[in-house]
Amino acid sequence: ATNRTFTMIKPDAVQDNHIGGILGMIEAAGFRIVELQKVQLTAERAGQFYEVHKERPFYQDLVKYMSSGPIVAAILEKDNAVADFRTLIGATNPANAEDGTIRKKYAKSIEANAVHGSDSDENAQIEGEFYFN
Ligand code: CMP
Repeated sequence: ATNRTFTMIKPDAVQDNHIGGILGMIEAAGFRIVELQKVQLTAERAGQFYEVHKERPFYQDLVKYMSSGPIVAAILEKDNAVADFRTLIGATNPANAEDGTIRKKYAKSIEANAVHGSDSDENAQIEGEFYFN
C-alpha cells in the first residue's frame, strides 16, 4: 500500500549545494514529496530528535553536527516507503553503501552521511510530526 517515510538532508549536504541533487534522486525513485521544509535545528531540538541514541558514544557529536547548519526535512510517499527509501539511501556508513545510493554519491563519513531515513512506519510518523503538523 502507499505509505510514508520521513527524511532529512543533513547539514553538510545542504552546505555543499546537494539539496537539488538529492531531491532529484528521491523523485526519480518514485517518491512523492508531500511536505518539505528547510530549517536550522538548535542543539536542543537536534538532541530531542535523536533522543533514542542518547546513550550511544556518538550522540554529542551527532547533536553538534545536526545543529551546525540548516537541514531539509521532508515527508515522502510511495508504496513500501520506509523499506524502499532505506534501499535508496544505502548503508549508514558510506564505505558500505551500494553503487547508485544517495549515501554512495553524497555521504562523507558515517556521521556526515548526507541523509536520514526513518527505520519503521512508527518512527516515520513520529519523526514527521516532529517537523510538520
Ligand atoms: P541516521 O540514520 O540519521 O541515524 C543516526 C545518525 O548518527 C546516523 O545517521 C549518523 O549520522 C550518526 N552516526 C555517527 N556515528 C555513528 C555510528 N557509529 N553508528 C550509527 N550512526 C552514527
